[in-house]
Amino acid sequence: MSEPLLKVASLVSGYGDITVLHDIAFDVAPGEIVCLVGSNGAGKSTLLRTLSGLLATQRGSIHFDGRALAGAAPREFLTAGIAHVPEGRRLFGPMSVADNLRMGAYLRTDKAEIERDIEKMNAMFPILAARAKQQAGTLSGGEQQMCAIARGMMGRPRLLMIDELSLGLAPQVVEKLGEVIAQISLEGVAVLLVEQDVATAFELASRGVVLDTGRVSLLGPTAELSRNPAVRQAYMGIA
Ligand SMILES: Nc1ncnc2c1ncn2[C@@H]1O[C@H](COP(=O)(O)OP(=O)(O)O)[C@@H](O)[C@H]1O
Ligand SMILES: [Mg+2]
Repeated sequence: MSEPLLKVASLVSGYGDITVLHDIAFDVAPGEIVCLVGSNGAGKSTLLRTLSGLLATQRGSIHFDGRALAGAAPREFLTAGIAHVPEGRRLFGPMSVADNLRMGAYLRTDKAEIERDIEKMNAMFPILAARAKQQAGTLSGGEQQMCAIARGMMGRPRLLMIDELSLGLAPQVVEKLGEVIAQISLEGVAVLLVEQDVATAFELASRGVVLDTGRVSLLGPTAELSRNPAVRQAYMGIA
């Protein structure tokens, strides 16, 4: 088996003195799609915030592409190749779609390549090309999610983390986003996907991590998790 791209071990994290995540361990292979599922408040967003350096690691390690990142600043996580598409998308609302994409490349200096990547994103999401000059805040929810994913990809990450992919979006939009995520993974970019629709998450991802009150309760191939009676009952509403 190849070396993991991301390897998290004995990770403890939270907010100030409050510990939310306990002893988290899992890994992500290059180009792999891994989903992170769990109930509201389980700690999924907290984990993504820790893996983008927004929250300090209290204990444990984060190895990414051979580098130790626990304790590093958010900028170092970004330059190492981890992009975070936060819950609620957090676009720069008054700025145009095109400028939002450029903001995703703000640490890059290769101007010609940046323009080429914008073209690539426009090909991936034709609706963004049509709306290039429109204020991002006026986009529909699905378009905003596309813009947020494209902005994340503009940093040329090796791992794209998406928090709540489908929240509030129509099924056709979710299907389109799923196709794009599969394509991103085929191009060699790994994806860590937080998704409340567990059936969708299991369809897209090869492996899954189940978080329960800040701990990993289960971890394995999604084909196995989707057959697990406890997972089906707790997260898929199947008795
Ligand atoms: N800014 C914060 N300060 C303190 N506790 C927080 C903060 N944000 C989230 N939490 C707590 O962390 C726990 C995990 O939350 P979160 O990571 O948002 O869960 P999820 O994304 O799985 O719904 C919850 O108990 C929540 O109340
Ligand atoms: Mg969350």
